[in-house]
Amino acid sequence: MASQFTEDVDAIRQGKRMKALILSGGKGTRLRPLTYTGAKQLVPVANKPILWYGIEAIVQAGITDIGIIISPETGEEIQEKTEDGSQFGANITYIAQEEPLGLAHAVKIAQPFLGNSPFVMYLGDNLVEGELTGFLQAFQTQRLDSLILLCPVSNPSAFGVAKVDEQGTVSDLLEKPQDPPSNLALVGIYFFTPRIHDAIAHIEPSARGELEITDAIQWLIDNKQPVGSRQLPGWWLDTGKKDDLLEANRIILDTKLEIKVSGEVDEDSELIGRVTIGEGTRIINSTIRGPAIIGSNCVLENCFIGPYTSIADEAILREADLEHSVILRESKVLQIQQRIVDSLIGERVELKMAPKRPKAMRFLLGDDSQVELT
Ligand code: TTP
Repeated sequence: MASQFTEDVDAIRQGKRMKALILSGGKGTRLRPLTYTGAKQLVPVANKPILWYGIEAIVQAGITDIGIIISPETGEEIQEKTEDGSQFGANITYIAQEEPLGLAHAVKIAQPFLGNSPFVMYLGDNLVEGELTGFLQAFQTQRLDSLILLCPVSNPSAFGVAKVDEQGTVSDLLEKPQDPPSNLALVGIYFFTPRIHDAIAHIEPSARGELEITDAIQWLIDNKQPVGSRQLPGWWLDTGKKDDLLEANRIILDTKLEIKVSGEVDEDSELIGRVTIGEGTRIINSTIRGPAIIGSNCVLENCFIGPYTSIADEAILREADLEHSVILRESKVLQIQQRIVDSLIGERVELKMAPKRPKAMRFLLGDDSQVELT
């Protein structure tokens, strides 16, 4: 028995039995209108779906058995793009959640997949800087039942907030408190032993009708189970809103982008700084000032593309001038005489202006669209 136990502990320490659960269901109300038609976890940052950054971080920490929670509305799209995980060196199991009844509810329905394994739970719309390995080691060596990650924020009332002592031991967790006990917000990454299932079985839905993971962790604390915390040394972005998404795009382009030019760039064009251009893309008489990424099979003619811009595949831009913006696939931006800044433009959008000063403006905008002519 003793040696079996030692083997188990070793296996857990080495991350072998550790699993991951990524939450990629939910409603995505904050990124509307984009998320009327698509999953918010698939919105690209530097032309790569947000969800994939999480998968890569998990695999890099040595965890390859990954469950992904999906909703009936967007689950199919997530499965089609992310497939069985082999492109990441992972083995993905999809778990359908019929309704977004809370983060703890997602863990509850994933119990058959999670079994008796310890696991990392990762919110599929969160982006963090750096690796998970150090946190995983802390969780395992300190024999915690839960390790939560915290990040100082200026508006703690908008988040789950933790009260911790100097050793990082957590004494209280509060969901969106009016009178926050600290400025430490819970980041969307949590480590749990299977004891969390016990905790979830003991909690009731909150006032907003959801099974809250903060209530389950509080149950562990109240029942004297060890719950620790670590502060994230780098940045953390919850890409729920447009400006968060643009900020995530800026940071990833700033820190991760490499120079790689696969398309055709004609001799009247100029690429300055770190620029990536995908296959089959044609750049004609244009200037691109990096960091910027242009996807595959795009056409850019007579354009100026400024820093912190990501343009997804099959976009067409003519006589356009833009910076610090994200343009999704198959969109067209044509003859816009003003500079476009700080913009997030969805898939298959067409933006066009009359060659001279426009006499009238015509719009076909979906619900919740926003246009600012400043
Ligand atoms: P949230 O951002 O808390 O919820 P949401 O997706 O409903 O967002 P919004 O406020 O924009 O309407 O969810 C965090 C992550 O967890 C996100 O990737 C969605 C996912 N999630 C589930 O998978 N199941 C759930 O029951 C909930 C509440 C969220």
